[in-house]
Amino acid sequence: MIGVFDSGLGGLSVLAALVEALPQADFAYYADTAHVPYGNKSETQIQCRVLAIGDYLAKHGCSLLVVACNTATAAAVQALRAAHPGLPVVGIEPGIKPAAQDSMSGRIAVLVTEATANSQRLQHLIRDHAGQVEVFVEPCPGWATHVEMLQLDDPALATDVRARIEPLLEQGVDRIVLGCTHYSFLAPLLREVVGTRAQLVDVAAAVARQTQRLAGRLAQGGGRLQLHASAHPERLRAALPRLHLGRLASRIA
Ligand code: DGL
Repeated sequence: MIGVFDSGLGGLSVLAALVEALPQADFAYYADTAHVPYGNKSETQIQCRVLAIGDYLAKHGCSLLVVACNTATAAAVQALRAAHPGLPVVGIEPGIKPAAQDSMSGRIAVLVTEATANSQRLQHLIRDHAGQVEVFVEPCPGWATHVEMLQLDDPALATDVRARIEPLLEQGVDRIVLGCTHYSFLAPLLREVVGTRAQLVDVAAAVARQTQRLAGRLAQGGGRLQLHASAHPERLRAALPRLHLGRLASRIA
């Protein structure tokens, strides 16, 4: 079984790509809904949660882990790998590299949580892969919580999205990296603001391809899905249709 986790619902955007790439694999998805959001937590707090979830999923029979959360990857993927040396771990990092390669204007933006914005890992990613372009790092406090509450049509969110994105577009940014898995569910709202002025960059499919490379015999299972959460696990299943992921419901074991 492949274990996939996030602070909450955001990682379901990665799970959808994983299921598409590995339709026969069995997945256990864990949402840390008792501790969401991670974006306003310290690195130590996030590491503590990630290690606890890693242990839980490993004990549950997962032999490959996908950290479907940029914030958790930035804060704790190294600690998770050190704690489980025999377990392959796939992390997710903002698509700075493809955005920098494809940008025509030489200006890209990356939308992230506050914790990711402050992380050394993001600084290193920019230093290593975006030397030739200007990178605008935009923390988006509150956005993940809106997704978590399924308040995708909230006018206050739409106003905040516009207020953050318009200045980036005015700076000439032509690639906008979704550096938090919750933001994938805001793509329609973001596209309304962005129009044809910039392209959104989401790496869920690339994470799924990397997982596919490591999956081996895990690719052949029963195509089942387990949903786990640290609080209100029933809300996870109910959220699927609201996030246009109703197709995953038939897999739930
Ligand atoms: N989904 C997470 C990410 O990719 C974090 C959201 C949060 O809990 O603040 O960064």
